Parts: sequence; C-alpha cells; structure tokens
Amino acid sequence: MAVGINAMPVTFAAHVVALIAAIMVLVWSISFRGGLAWEAENKNLIFNLHPVLMLIGFIILGGEAIISYKSLPLEKPVKKIIHLILHAISLSLGIWGICAAFKNHNESGIPNLYSLHSWIGIGVISLYAFQWLYSFILFFYPGGSPNLRSGLLPWHALLGLFVYVLAVGNAALGFLEKLTFLESGKLDKYGTEAFLVNFTAIVTILFGALVVLTVSAKSPSTPSPVDDDDETSYSYSAI
Ligand code: HEM
Repeated sequence: MAVGINAMPVTFAAHVVALIAAIMVLVWSISFRGGLAWEAENKNLIFNLHPVLMLIGFIILGGEAIISYKSLPLEKPVKKIIHLILHAISLSLGIWGICAAFKNHNESGIPNLYSLHSWIGIGVISLYAFQWLYSFILFFYPGGSPNLRSGLLPWHALLGLFVYVLAVGNAALGFLEKLTFLESGKLDKYGTEAFLVNFTAIVTILFGALVVLTVSAKSPSTPSPVDDDDETSYSYSAI
C-alpha cells in the first residue's frame, strides 16, 4: 500500500532534517556539554559520545539505510548492498554508542540498566542486530528459496519499521531523561540549552516521521528488469 505522494521529495526533506538534527546534537555535546572523548578524567565527556553516536550513527544512518532502498534509482542488487552496508554501519555505531554509556556509568560508579530508556535501548539494539543477521542470511548470503524470501519480506519490512520507530521514540526518551537530570541540578528550565535539547528531540521525531513517510510513499521507477527475489512488486512499499 503506497500513499499518494512521491518518495523523492520526502527523501530530500529527510536529508535536510537529518543534517539539522546532526548539527544540533553536535552543538549540544561540544559547545554546551564540553566535548567528546573515549578516555577522559571528566567522565561526562565519555557520556557525550552516547547521544552523538545514537543519533547520528544509529538513528540517522539507520533511517538513510531504510530510505535508500526505497528512493535510490538503482538496480535492486546494488540497492540491497547499500541497504545492508548502511545498516551494518548504523548497528556498529549504535553498539559503540551504548558502550560509551556503559563506560561512563562504570567509570563514574553509576549502576547500569536501571531505567526504562536503557531497557528499551537494549531491546532495540538486540532486535536490530537480529533483523540484520537473519536478513543477511535470507536475502543476501547464502540466501533462502524465492518462496521463503517473498513470504518473509513483508515481515522483514514490518519488523524493520517497528524497531526503527521504537528507536526514535527511545532516543526522545533519552533526551528527556538527560534533560531531567540536568534540570534537577542547576540547568535553567527555560534556558537556551533546555530548548536546544527539547528541539533536538522534536527534530529527531520529525526525521523518523519522514523515514516512515518515505517507506509508504510511491517509489520512483527503477531500471530493474531482473527480479532476483520476486520482490519487485513489493519493494518496501507494501507496508
Ligand atoms: C535509539 C537510541 C538509543 C539507544 C538504543 C540507547 C540505549 C541506551 C542504553 C542501553 C543505556 C544504558 C547504559 C547503562 O546502563 O550503562 C542508555 C543510557 C542512557 N542514555 Fe541512551 N540510548 C539511545 C539514545 C539516547 C539519546 C539520544 C540520549 C540523549 C541524551 C540518551 C540518553 C541516555 C542517558 C541519560 C543514559 C543514562 C541513564 C540511563 O541508563 O537511562 N540516549 N541508553
């Protein structure tokens, strides 16, 4: 089912919003929170890697991986490789981002995995890894039978979109949680930083919405005469 809008302009809007979100999280972490570091005396700098890697690496690159499959005017085998590589990079940066949060907690004597955000976070990254792994085996190498692939493709698209929406929601929860910690200290509730963090969360949600809209929009016609997966009639649009 495709909604009556072309994927291409939605995709461009998504790229612009992604760029804005990336700039916002970098300005927050570097200018307001003191910068980024993997090794540092100031453990907050280690934490700062977490939102940057989760937003730019996991959410934005993951979103680009999803929309690349729908919007790039390339042949299906090429799109498939771009899709799986972008998802692999996004998963790796997401895992690194979570490691940064754990490292910050461990080196600061803060307990791990006590919040709803962290529980959903572990669920999201595990589902994402599971989705990537079975899809690689099924759709890329060694590959399932054509029947199996076309039967499981709707589940792949549905689970992928579900996990992605959950990730975007959890990122918003992360911004809320960090801002609440800061505001329970000295941070001005109506100050510049508070607005920056809240608006970064809003822009993240807007990006997520544009990714979902791209997936449900009409695909540009692709020069793909070969249907190696019996997926041509499907191509991500039948969500
Ligand atoms: C989908 C993206 C994200 C995922 C999967 C995720 C996952 C996680 C996980 C698993 C932890 C637990 C670390 C530990 O217990 O040592 C954590 C901690 C934390 N995250 Fe995120 N995170 C994401 C995005 C964000 C963002 C964008 C922020 C914004 C600042 C954020 C803020 C926090 C905070 C404040 C903590 C420490 C407190 C806590 O454990 O809940 N997260 N995150």
